[in-house]
Amino acid sequence: MTSPATRRETPDAPPSGLPALTFHNPLSEERAARVVARLAAARPATVLDVGCGWAELLLRLLEAVPQARGTGIDLRGEDLVRAGERARERGLDGRVRLHEESARGTTRGPADLVLCGGSGQALADPDGPDYLPTLFAELRRLVNPGGRVLLGEGFFTRTPGAGELARLWPGARADDHPSLGALVDAAVAGGFRPLWTETASASEWEEFESGYRAADEEWLALHPGHAAADAVRERLDAQRAFWLDGHLGLLGLAWLTLVPVGRAG
Ligand SMILES: C[S@@+](CC[C@H](N)C(=O)[O-])C[C@H]1O[C@@H](n2cnc3c(N)ncnc32)[C@H](O)[C@@H]1O
Repeated sequence: MTSPATRRETPDAPPSGLPALTFHNPLSEERAARVVARLAAARPATVLDVGCGWAELLLRLLEAVPQARGTGIDLRGEDLVRAGERARERGLDGRVRLHEESARGTTRGPADLVLCGGSGQALADPDGPDYLPTLFAELRRLVNPGGRVLLGEGFFTRTPGAGELARLWPGARADDHPSLGALVDAAVAGGFRPLWTETASASEWEEFESGYRAADEEWLALHPGHAAADAVRERLDAQRAFWLDGHLGLLGLAWLTLVPVGRAG
C-alpha cells in the first residue's frame, strides 16, 4: 500500500519515508501480536502514543479494543500523514486524534495505556543528567492509576570499551544507555512494577536495520549515475557501518510492560 509519505515525487527521485518497515522499531509481527493481546486484556478506554511515528501499534490496539480512543503525538508530519491514511483504511479515523507537536510536557494525558516505543526522547532529554528518572516521572504523570505503559527503550548488552564507543555516534559514552537490569531498576524506582520484560531479538534487529535502508538500496542499485546517488550511497554506507561495525550485539531494545504502583481508581 502506498501512502503520500512513501510515494515518489518524481519517477527517478530517491524514495522517501521507510516503506519497507511495518514498525519504526525492531519489533516482529509475533511480538507485536503478543504485546497487543496483553495490553488489550486490560481494556483501556484511552490510549496515548508519545512519539507515535506512523502509529502502527496504536492502530492495532484500537482494532483490538473497539471501545478505546487513541491520541498520537509526533514531530514528523509525514509520518502522521501515513498514520492518518492507515487509520482511514481501517475505519479507525473517528477514534484517533493525531497531533504534530512535541510531547515534552504534553497535557494530552492521562490515559489508561501509554505507548512510548523507542521514543523516550519525546518525553525527556536523553543528553540530560536525569534522563531515566525524568522519563519515568513523565510516564507516571501520563498514565492513569491501574493503567499500563509500554516502553521501548535502549540498553547496552555489555559495557562498551573505548574502541566500541568510537564506532557508535559522535561523543558516545559508556553511560549513554544503562544495562537491562539498571533500566528495569529505574522503572521500579520511578514507581512502576515490570509486568513483562522482553528484548528485541537478533532477527528483529536484522529486519529493522535491513528494512530501514531497503528501498534506498534498491533505488541506488538502479540509479548509480543519478545526481543524488553519491549522497545516498554515502549515507547508506555510514548507516550500515554504524550497524554492522558499531551497535550490532551491543545495543539492545527492551520492551517493558509497566504497571504504576498504587491503588487503581
Ligand atoms: C524510533 S521512532 C518510533 C516511532 C513509533 N513509536 C514506532 O514504534 O513505530 C521515534 C519517534 O519519536 C519521535 N519524536 C522524537 N522527539 C519527539 C518529541 N519531542 N515529541 C514527539 N515525538 C518525538 C520521532 O519523530 C519518531 O517518530
